[in-house]
Amino acid sequence: MHRELSRFGAAALLLAAALSCGAAELNLIPWPSQITQQEGLLALDNSPRIELIGGDERVHHALDRFMRNLTAHTGFPFDRHFPGTPDGPSFVIQCAGPGLRVQAVEEDESYHLVINSKGIELTAANPLGAMHGLETVLQLVKSGPQGWVLPYVRIDDTPRFAWRGLMIDVSRHFMPLDAIERNVDGMAAVKLNILHLHLSDDEGFRVESKRCPRLTRVASDGLFYTQDQIHELIAYARNRGVRVVPEFDVPGHAVSWLVAYPQIASGPAPQGLVRSQRDNLRPPLDPTQDATYKLLDKVFGEMEKLFPDRYFHIGGDEVDGKYWDKGAHIQTWMHEHNIQDNHALQTYFTKRVQAIVQKHGKQMEGWDEILAGDLPKDSLIQSWRGANSLADAAKLGYKTVLSAGYYLDLQYPASQHYAVDPLSGESASLSAEEKSRILGGEAAQWTEYVTPEILDNRIWPRLGAIAERLWSPASVTDVDSMYRRLAVLSRNLEWLDLEQRTSSVRMMDRIENDDMPPKLLETLAMAVEPVKEYEREKTQVYDVEAPLNHMVDAVPPESDQARQINALAQRAIHDPSVRPELRTLLIQWRDNDAQIEPYLATSALRQPLVPLSQGLSELGTLGLSALDAVESGHPVTQDQHKEQLADIEKSVAPHAELLLVVAPAIRTLVAAEPVDP
Ligand code: ACM
Repeated sequence: MHRELSRFGAAALLLAAALSCGAAELNLIPWPSQITQQEGLLALDNSPRIELIGGDERVHHALDRFMRNLTAHTGFPFDRHFPGTPDGPSFVIQCAGPGLRVQAVEEDESYHLVINSKGIELTAANPLGAMHGLETVLQLVKSGPQGWVLPYVRIDDTPRFAWRGLMIDVSRHFMPLDAIERNVDGMAAVKLNILHLHLSDDEGFRVESKRCPRLTRVASDGLFYTQDQIHELIAYARNRGVRVVPEFDVPGHAVSWLVAYPQIASGPAPQGLVRSQRDNLRPPLDPTQDATYKLLDKVFGEMEKLFPDRYFHIGGDEVDGKYWDKGAHIQTWMHEHNIQDNHALQTYFTKRVQAIVQKHGKQMEGWDEILAGDLPKDSLIQSWRGANSLADAAKLGYKTVLSAGYYLDLQYPASQHYAVDPLSGESASLSAEEKSRILGGEAAQWTEYVTPEILDNRIWPRLGAIAERLWSPASVTDVDSMYRRLAVLSRNLEWLDLEQRTSSVRMMDRIENDDMPPKLLETLAMAVEPVKEYEREKTQVYDVEAPLNHMVDAVPPESDQARQINALAQRAIHDPSVRPELRTLLIQWRDNDAQIEPYLATSALRQPLVPLSQGLSELGTLGLSALDAVESGHPVTQDQHKEQLADIEKSVAPHAELLLVVAPAIRTLVAAEPVDP
């Protein structure tokens, strides 16, 4: 197949004069495996000539999307211009062959890209590589003195891991299709290829079942994807090089099943879906009844047809064994079948479920609790409780994927996820064959505290750092460079309709409520981050209806400003030239509280912020006094120094589920001040 793409109505890219090349680092994320930058810039003008050779319909779609995204990114109507001149520069996309009908892990995703005065040449073995290459071209576009340009480059790029995923929990908080689809666009932008949907849990069963309509009628709360929507999503994702792996969590996390089918509960059946952390009647499915497997066969058979992916995730995590311990008939059954303990009982269950999954033509995936040496070897283990289970699974002969260290819902900084490598730690000492079973990794976004409004803000841009870890060579580890490129990514994703920045602004506007002066709340917001790990559930009880509209929900998990200020304080110790900038910030923190204080009391959303604002003011005061001592060289007494350190620690206690994350800047200054011997 070789044809001119007039159907794109347009546009091709005219590649005109070579402009001088800036030396700035390119904004690519994930960073390519091999890249050579050459002197020169290709001007993208209004007369393109695009040729597409080979591939399948996905490449056409990707090119169409490329034009739309380029137009959105530049504001230049690249998508409405006419084909260029035959002898002008060209944009040639050459794809050696079509891909598999159902995208799979063994496909070659590599691509080769050359940009020079002759134009753009993108070659790939497969439509997936062509799609990745187009995303790279888009990331290379920048504005120059004469318009939009591409730098001259040669890129040979191939992913380090074949499995690069994102899991989204759509059970705790249901996510409408458009929220999922815009995140698929974001995934494609950073070359991720697996969307794992956690489709059922105690809070709801989120896919229409025609065979077992009770699952839809009584177990979904009215919030579910129709089968037509699932077809749409799968097609949408496929066009972006993304597979959709469904998860139906059994035998634990299965209250939704039991609300529809109480007879298969291991104990007293719950009366309704879980709506609160206090609803603690959460029995697993009864593994001793044939009725359980009959129902699973019926539903999984339907769902395995609906989702074409080779893998089918059956959950298997966090099974609460106390219901099995207490069930007299379960204990008798275990005794009769010589099953020694609950793990063995779960393994019995998993094997029967695996047979069901396999009967419908799929391979089983599960969380690491299912790991047992005698499962069929084509089972895939998703490691979440710690990276050890990754190595254990690989040693036992199973393919495996790392999620421990990639839990976005724990609100850790991007740098922390970036440092997690599937082949480090225990896995580093595996044999080459064992290592080859480690397919990659998957970020996880659980949604106990995430509504559709908050979703993007929790995922992006940090997911970009994980995407780079899973795609780029292991040697790509420069954290400053990662953060610089991540900031550009975050801005660019908004052109794909992702909302991580705008939704945060909107949510802060809601708290500001038009009845206080601007900037005061912003000063506080920049200095805080949500509490980490599972702290939120320890602080207060959240029901599913609890509003998630507080500052903890509005601010990003990681404050870029706080990170920059903490670095600025370190520089200020040795570099007097940056001290005025730091001093200005410290004064702003010190004085913000007196200005904001009258407005905090007048809104329920702001009242909880009072102690945080006071803490920030204290940190400002402490920082100014330490900066004075550093600058003047006048020592403080031992007692003053100790008191300052203690005051910092007092100010960092969490309030309103937020942490003052600029405290390290003040610790740095206090640690550097001269102290009387
Ligand atoms: C899990 O986080 N329970 C898999």
